This record gives sequence, structure tokens and C-alpha cells, in this order.
Amino acid sequence: MNDDFYRIRRLPPYVIAEVNAMRAAARAAGEDIIDLGMGNPDLPPPPHVIDKLCEVARKPDAHGYSASKGIPGLRRAQAGYYQRRFGVELDPESEVVVTLGSKEGLANLAQAITAPGDVVLAPNPSYPIHTFGFIIAGATIRSVPTTPDERYWDALDRAVKFTVPKPSVLVVGYPSNPTAEVVDLAFYERLVAWAKEHQIWVLSDLAYSELYYDGVPTPSILQVPGAKDVAVEFTSMSKTYSMAGWRMGFAVGNKQLIAALTRVKSYLDYGAFTPIQAAAVAAINGPQDIVDQNRELYKRRRDILVESFGRAGWEIPPSRASMFCWAPLPPALAHLGSLEFSKQLLTHAQVAVAPGVGYGEDGEGYVRIAMVENEHRIRQAARNVKRYLQSMGVNSVAKKAG
Ligand SMILES: Cc1ncc(COP(=O)(O)O)c(C=O)c1O
Repeated sequence: MNDDFYRIRRLPPYVIAEVNAMRAAARAAGEDIIDLGMGNPDLPPPPHVIDKLCEVARKPDAHGYSASKGIPGLRRAQAGYYQRRFGVELDPESEVVVTLGSKEGLANLAQAITAPGDVVLAPNPSYPIHTFGFIIAGATIRSVPTTPDERYWDALDRAVKFTVPKPSVLVVGYPSNPTAEVVDLAFYERLVAWAKEHQIWVLSDLAYSELYYDGVPTPSILQVPGAKDVAVEFTSMSKTYSMAGWRMGFAVGNKQLIAALTRVKSYLDYGAFTPIQAAAVAAINGPQDIVDQNRELYKRRRDILVESFGRAGWEIPPSRASMFCWAPLPPALAHLGSLEFSKQLLTHAQVAVAPGVGYGEDGEGYVRIAMVENEHRIRQAARNVKRYLQSMGVNSVAKKAG
């Protein structure tokens, strides 16, 4: 029997899984690992959302199959959010679909619109589903930079000029995971014009829509007039409301793309458990103070991380958004590479981070640090890191004094 399965063959070993396995083994051995590796929020969802989940779960008629595209009230709530937050009108019937987390939506849209051999433009480094959703669907990825500077536009133009077949899809994701880079509305205006000129679909991943720290709210690509002609956007309740395990996300925008995703999903799932969808409505339509409080909390963690790791001898640029810092390896240890450095941090400092190379080859030289432990634990991580760096001959005090 042939067990060399075509799709599986296209998936390289998951680099981040190596560090995760080491972390699990260290924990099983009783070590206290400070886990700044996975972007898994440590905060609870708002209490009224959990109350709504329990209330609806007690109803006898809430336990059957739900609606694959999402219950109407939840699609209306998401349209209301886009109206309030971005001033964007959406038809809840034809321009909104509920997904089982944005990851599922991205992966199934990739299945819906991709034929083997299609060329897809995706950032490098990026969140893995931006590339692997399409690779599993048989596409070829042409990488473009993540940093949205002139090199980015040049890469897009060269991709259109030199790739055969012409790229069919461009994936963008700002605030970026892993680099935490952001864009402004002018970026999206230029992008929409480019996509229209070249007739390329744009998939925008806005998972960190509410985690911004400069006081400037993150824009949506759909704020650009006419963006719906070429673009869909994914949002997630995982980070905004700390509901990662609930698997709640959305795709909104272009009607053809939403119809394609809705159709594929209608063959694959029956929608999220109805009480979860009802509780998601309560989250979106209810009081939003928790969103502001969590933004402040992540910002404080970021400040503590940058300050305490800096004093430990590791300079980390402050991120402007997302729940991550994207940290260049300390120069004296850059030769280790991001995977080996991450392993050493885990073994010698009991701190888990994600190796940058796990997000694509251009992530090499960096690690991603998730701000998912409390302030006390972040300071403890900095002390452990300092001890490790000193053991490696990186002397923070001498470096600072010099
Ligand atoms: C950029 C980005 N997109 C999508 C996701 C997946 O989110 P969800 O939990 O909605 O599937 C993540 C999760 O970390 C992410 O960082």
C-alpha cells in the first residue's frame, strides 16, 4: 500500500513542535517552565459571556446540529461590529460567515478557491496557515516580505511580472504574527488598487484587530472603498475576548469568496455548538470594557518584557500591536540559530519561546515571545534569561556600561 500521501508529503516537520515537545517533557519532569511560546491567552473571557454559554446550554433544544454558516444573530452581530469599529457596511446574509476559529476559515477558503499548481503570494515569515492552508490545497507559494516597505511592493510587482501562472491570491496579515508589524489605511488603499489592477484576490487576517498599543486603532482593509470587490477579511474572538478554545472566528467581505467558503463548509461542518454562538453574540454586543482592559494589560506586559529583558542583556524592540514581541537573537548568540537558541533557553532558563524559523526561512535570527504570562512571571523569565546569558559569556552589566 502506498502511504506516501501527496498532501502529507508536502508538509515539512513542524519546527515549533520540537520546542513544544521539549517543553512538555520538561514540565512532566517537574520543571517550572515559563511559557512565552504559544499565542494562547492566559486570561478568562468576560463573565457575562460564560453566563450566556451556560444559560443557553441548559435549554433542551440547544443541542442539535447548528448552522454551518453561523446563526443569523451572530452574523448580524459581526456586521454590527464592522459598522461600529470600521464604518463598514456588511450584509449578514451574503457577506459574513462564521468560522470555527479564523484558522479553519483560512484553511477551508484555501481549499475552496485553489487548484493544484496555483500560485499564492504569502508573507515570509508568517502564521503557518497563511502558507500551509494553500500548500495542503496543492498550491505553490511564492514568498513576499512581511515588512510593508518598498521592498514589499517591489516583490509584489516582480511576482506578477515573472510568475507563471500569474498569482491568484495574496495573503496579508497585520498586525503581523510573528513580527508584530502594523500597517495604516494608506497601505490598504495601495494594496486594493494593486489587487484590482492585477485581478488578484486578497485574504486579510486581522486576528489582532483590538491589540494595538500606539493609541491608533488597527485599520481593516474593508475600509478602502471598493475593497469588497477583491478582498475578504478574517477576524477572531480568540484574542479579543480570550476565547481561543471556543473556536470562534469570522470571514467577511467579497460575496463570491464568502459564498465559496460557505459552500465548502456546508459539506464539512454543522457549525459551532449553538450555546457557543449565542455566547459569542453576547461578547460582541455586550460591554466592551474587557477589550480595553486587556489591551492595557498586554501593553503593560510588553513594557515590562522590554525593560526587564533589556536589563538582562537582551535588547527587544517594543511591539506596536499583537500579543507578541519579535526579538532578534542576542548578537553574541546569533550563530546558534533560532531553533537551537530556543532549545537552550528552555533547558537553561526554563523559558519557552517560539523559534522564528518556524514561521518561514526569513524568520531565522529571531524568536517570537508571547505575552501570555503575568507580570511577575515575565520578570522571573528575565532573571532566568540573565543567568543563562551570563553563563554564555553575555554580560549584561558590562554591555550596558560600555
Ligand atoms: C495571525 C493569526 N491568524 C489566525 C490565528 C488563528 O486564530 P483562531 O483561534 O481564530 O483560529 C492566529 C492564532 O494565533 C493568528 O496569530
